[in-house]
Amino acid sequence: MAAPTEPSSPARVVVLVSGSGTNLQALLDATAEGGPAYGAEVVAVGADRSGIEGLRRAERAGLPTFVRRVADFASRPEWDVALADAVSAHRPDLVVSAGFMKIVGAEFLARFGGRIVNTHPALLPSFPGAHGVRDALAYGAKVTGCTVHFVDDGVDTGPVIAQGVVEIRDEDDEAALHERIKDVERRLLVDVVGRLARDGYSIKGRKVYIP
Ligand code: GAR
Repeated sequence: MAAPTEPSSPARVVVLVSGSGTNLQALLDATAEGGPAYGAEVVAVGADRSGIEGLRRAERAGLPTFVRRVADFASRPEWDVALADAVSAHRPDLVVSAGFMKIVGAEFLARFGGRIVNTHPALLPSFPGAHGVRDALAYGAKVTGCTVHFVDDGVDTGPVIAQGVVEIRDEDDEAALHERIKDVERRLLVDVVGRLARDGYSIKGRKVYIP
């Protein structure tokens, strides 16, 4: 997993979304409020479906958007290449998967490996996959949280960059717990992306170092 050697300043970030895009919004707000001192700017937003609030947030911010739906391609690898091409057109230093509910494939990883950051609503390696909040609740865990990590070829298995802890309350349902996780997650993601962009980083085995 190679990290970029000479990132742009500010670092160019392409964000991928599938839903409401509140993590994307947090990144947009950080860029707008922090200016160049934040170190990163969102240059485009992509999705695997249309008609979602995440894309509307990008449009309101005046950003280019693109949609690549799996169903529009003959095979998953062809979708993966199309997604990689669309992302590539915006010359990203970092790709942030913020509620993007698809697993990227070999071509995407070959082009952007070591530069793809994902945020997951559980404390990995516990509760990977599409239902991290529901699974922690069903297990009876007392704490859960969120994990910001680099993407590798597994499902939520890449090197961990940072984690945030959230207590599970007896009265929690999935929606209430997810809201409290997202509150922590948005701040963590903004912090991590800013630090990666400003300070650079290296990945050695499973360890991520930010100087
Ligand atoms: C976030 O909690 C993110 O961790 C989760 O989707 C939510 C998106 O929220 N992602 C996954 O579950 C991926 N496995 P948002 O659209 O409001 O940013």
